[in-house]
Amino acid sequence: MQVQKLRFPLIVLMLLFGLLLAACGGDATTESATTETTETTETTETTTDTSTETVDEGGMQAVEVFSWWTGGGEAAGLEAMIVVFQEKYPDIEFINAAVAGGAGTNARAVLATRLQANDPPDSWQGHAGQELIGTYVAADQLEPLNFLYEQEGWLDVMPETLIPLMSQDGNIYSVPVNIHRANVLFANPKVLAEYGVEMPGTLDEWFATMDALQEAGMEAPLALGEQWTALHLFETILLASLGPDGYEALWNGTSDWSSPEVAQALADFAQVLTYVNSDASALSWQDAGQLVVDGDAAFNVMGDWQEGFFRELSLVPNEDYVWAAVPDTAGNFQFLSDSFVLPKGAPHREAAIDWLLVAGSKEGQDAFNPIKGSIPARSDADRSLYGVYLQSAMDDWASNRVVGSLTHGVVANDSWKAEIDTALGLFLGTGDLAAFQTALVAACATSGPCQ
Ligand code: GAL
Repeated sequence: MQVQKLRFPLIVLMLLFGLLLAACGGDATTESATTETTETTETTETTTDTSTETVDEGGMQAVEVFSWWTGGGEAAGLEAMIVVFQEKYPDIEFINAAVAGGAGTNARAVLATRLQANDPPDSWQGHAGQELIGTYVAADQLEPLNFLYEQEGWLDVMPETLIPLMSQDGNIYSVPVNIHRANVLFANPKVLAEYGVEMPGTLDEWFATMDALQEAGMEAPLALGEQWTALHLFETILLASLGPDGYEALWNGTSDWSSPEVAQALADFAQVLTYVNSDASALSWQDAGQLVVDGDAAFNVMGDWQEGFFRELSLVPNEDYVWAAVPDTAGNFQFLSDSFVLPKGAPHREAAIDWLLVAGSKEGQDAFNPIKGSIPARSDADRSLYGVYLQSAMDDWASNRVVGSLTHGVVANDSWKAEIDTALGLFLGTGDLAAFQTALVAACATSGPCQ
């Protein structure tokens, strides 16, 4: 009796408290736990209200997919995959939560904030490799996806090299949608012809060519964009200068970052920087590509999403643009892979799995990649759907030595990469090579495998 007597007022009190909270505009922690179908989300109308706003309204489900594909061939590629998704799942509303900014520089910050607030999207784009394992898996934010791999037979069609980069302790944590190549040198063939120069095969040839272009009046023969594109350029020069063994040794702890070989690679990078545009920090990767398209620069080093952008501009391969491996990297495929994950606590878990099924499917990959400017992760794709550049990338992927990208999450965890990026930022300002090398040595000791 006593207990019952007490319990009633307690319930009344709780109800009153709840009403009071609602009247005050609610509280993020209470609303997510209890009231999916009511309208208590009005306080979080920025990026965080989508999960509740779209759940089962009029019987409609939703899936919120997070990426940084908002421009060029990237957005168009994503749209093509969304079309496949909507054909298969017409009752699920697709919420495209892409945040602009190349290489995910902005998106990943927004994602980190959301994850911290326990507000994950249903699925997000992440890079296979240390970015995935060192960040999201380490923080226990993802569900293992082995059940999907088994159900769909994905182990038979996804590259063997990729699976360990997405796995820990036998658990596979993401679904790769593509393979991108980082070490691509794009050029404007009309400009090369006009100046009487050719595509270079070695760093020395490249420097001589760019010297000639500068002497002939082209101020900045190599188009560069904001800082992440400088980091991207840097990783390709490390590969060019050190070779694949030396490059890989940087990341597995068997290399001495203070060696004369690394010093030479940094000097090569410094030399490359003497050919770039002075407004680089204000330009996106597309802007840098545009300088080549417009003939203001001859070259641009970028991942092959740049090729997707060129095709988005209706440019014709081998007429309006040509490509080669970054000088002194032929035979090496510096790769990265975009993959999608299933977070623990995905607001719409079933729909998120449906999205992953499309991302991992032949149909989804063959819709996405020909437009995105990447080759499919799956080995059974329909080659005839891919343009001449991507067919050449498929051949290289199958035959080249494969090494991982730094800028796009394969070889270094996020903290190590951030330290390298900070060192690079300082170097771009000061030009102090010795200090750059010292900072890189320290970064490997602090956040990498160096002792
Ligand atoms: C990379 C990503 C690519 C492309 C690129 C430029 O990190 O893997 O798919 O989006 O950034 O934004």
